[in-house]
Amino acid sequence: MNLQVSSFEDYKKTYDYSVKEPEKFWAEIAENFQWKKKWDTVLNWNFKEPAIKWFEGAKLNITENCLDRHLDTIGDKPAIIWEPNDPEESHRVLTYKQLHDKVCQFAVVLKNNGIQKGDRICIYMPMIPELAIAVLACARIGAIHSVVFGGFSAQSIADRIQDASCNLVITADGGFRGGKDIPLKSVIDDALVQCPSVKKVIVVTRSRTPVSMIKGRDVWWEDEIKKVETMGNPECPAEEMDAEDMLFILYTSGSTGKPKGVVHTCGGYMVYTGYTFSNVFQYQPGEIYFCTADIGWITGHSYIVYGPLSQGATTVLFEGVPTWPNASRFWDIVEKHKVNILYTAPTAIRSLMGFGLDPLKGKDLSSLKKLGSVGEPINEEAWHWFDEHIGNKECPIVDTWWQTETGGIMISPIADVTPTKPGYATLPLPGIQPILVDENGKELEGNDVSGNLCIKFPWPGMLRTTYGDHERCRTTYFATYENLYFTGDGCLRDADGYYRITGRVDDVLNVSGHRIGTAEVENAINMHSSVVESAVVGFPHDIKGQGVYAYVVCPEHHSDEELTRKDIIMTVSRIIGPIAKPDKIQFVSGLPKTRSGKIMRRILRKIAEGDTSNLGDTSTLLDPGVVDEIKIGSEKMK
Ligand code: PRX
Repeated sequence: MNLQVSSFEDYKKTYDYSVKEPEKFWAEIAENFQWKKKWDTVLNWNFKEPAIKWFEGAKLNITENCLDRHLDTIGDKPAIIWEPNDPEESHRVLTYKQLHDKVCQFAVVLKNNGIQKGDRICIYMPMIPELAIAVLACARIGAIHSVVFGGFSAQSIADRIQDASCNLVITADGGFRGGKDIPLKSVIDDALVQCPSVKKVIVVTRSRTPVSMIKGRDVWWEDEIKKVETMGNPECPAEEMDAEDMLFILYTSGSTGKPKGVVHTCGGYMVYTGYTFSNVFQYQPGEIYFCTADIGWITGHSYIVYGPLSQGATTVLFEGVPTWPNASRFWDIVEKHKVNILYTAPTAIRSLMGFGLDPLKGKDLSSLKKLGSVGEPINEEAWHWFDEHIGNKECPIVDTWWQTETGGIMISPIADVTPTKPGYATLPLPGIQPILVDENGKELEGNDVSGNLCIKFPWPGMLRTTYGDHERCRTTYFATYENLYFTGDGCLRDADGYYRITGRVDDVLNVSGHRIGTAEVENAINMHSSVVESAVVGFPHDIKGQGVYAYVVCPEHHSDEELTRKDIIMTVSRIIGPIAKPDKIQFVSGLPKTRSGKIMRRILRKIAEGDTSNLGDTSTLLDPGVVDEIKIGSEKMK
């Protein structure tokens, strides 16, 4: 079966087939990939334990699909176009042949440093080609990568390294993001104080920031490559992996305090990311594709690295931010590299909208053919701006809904195939069976309904477990509703059967498309010496989508309240990272709690949203008076 549907009729036919004959459907899709050995069984599953196995018995290496199989046909075509943070610096192009060679070389470096199949490797790097090379080199030899976004703190890195007992870290001296220099190696040094499992650190040169290299532990990337060159660049055959062997761990926030390591496996993830990339974007050979995400998040894993490369695409890797040195940066990149497909986030669109149309003046965006959005609900205003000013009303917008746990896009228009509707992720991709349920797990049938979004049948890209704690995987995703995967999202299915994601229904915030657990932020705030307790909720934010609103009980704060606010923000930055910094901190004398001690977040959310007219029933509160105090305090903060 062709990976791409050819028309809306074809989509409907394919969808029906994928539901009636899911195993046949996925086996036919999987035929489009290169296997060292084909599977014995397509699917074995139950959502109870859960135990999900796709393509059991099959052998493969994802890097052969991303690199080797393209060498004869498109070996000299660009695989990666790297655009640096500073437009004055030259960009770099790596052809498929060059990328293949560099991945093999670095895979040998890993082996020379004692790394074997199954070892866990933490990667903390800026958005430079070496990041993609490091990721692929791990996959080449069957080591399991755990990429940590460059904006996380030393403490967050240490937690992640310890959780997976990583034995090697790959980092850079430093990185550039907009006007900022990020001292990556120094952050790693702080993290490693708590991580005895790490025996080696490989450091690539990027910023030329002075760093302390520890004898016996730290080595330079460039020196290690030279050693491989003096070995005569030995071949690095791809390790034969079972379809269900782990490919990577990626940590994401949930409603409890500790981020969990979502585990993806080799075969299913390869098939799912390759399939969805090809089909959703209707990728045509030669097209230049630019996804603005960071490889530190799932979008970067699936749709900068693995999906595009398995399909022989040219993928643009951008080191910087949309607004530096000015708000034309994206549009300059589109013009310079003649980008055909642009995949970005609503938060970036909203922030660029704020600069008006001047940054677009004189920019040639005529190469653009398809646009995509990911990470959070896209508001209609941003959708229309994207459509009119970037797409010139000629480019389909694919509003792709999915999650770290789903591995790839689940509900989305297919470019030029599915009729779109602003704000709607539209229809499930072939192979995906969404279902809406009410609080009690009862299916909401028919159209014009809203409820909690679940998926009732497995798909190859789904998570298999949470690293080191399978029970957590079961309770988080498979125990809320029997025999269903629960997404944590609320969703509306309109009269046409189109899906619109309305946002999280659990205690997870989506700040600029980044997932942040309220409990995690509360834990960090509570570390501050004068904080007694805190409650964190989201509030609507014009650019970030959601902002972080913290109610803090802090009886002995400095006489200078502003300074205490800054101290708390600094504490959160240190414990989690700057991405989780509260936008608003309100000091309160107590939190609204029920008699059993539960914080009534519903009330706090409403106050944070500025909607205090109807706070619902407050009679069950231990001290209803506290609500009035909080209301008055919040109004003062406006
Ligand atoms: O709430 C949904 C929102 O982002 C969550 C997943 O976050 P994460 O695992 O970090 O992955 C983000 C990139 C895939 C979802 O539970 N979300 C993601 N895409 C959309 C979205 N909400 C609305 N519309 C989307 N297109």
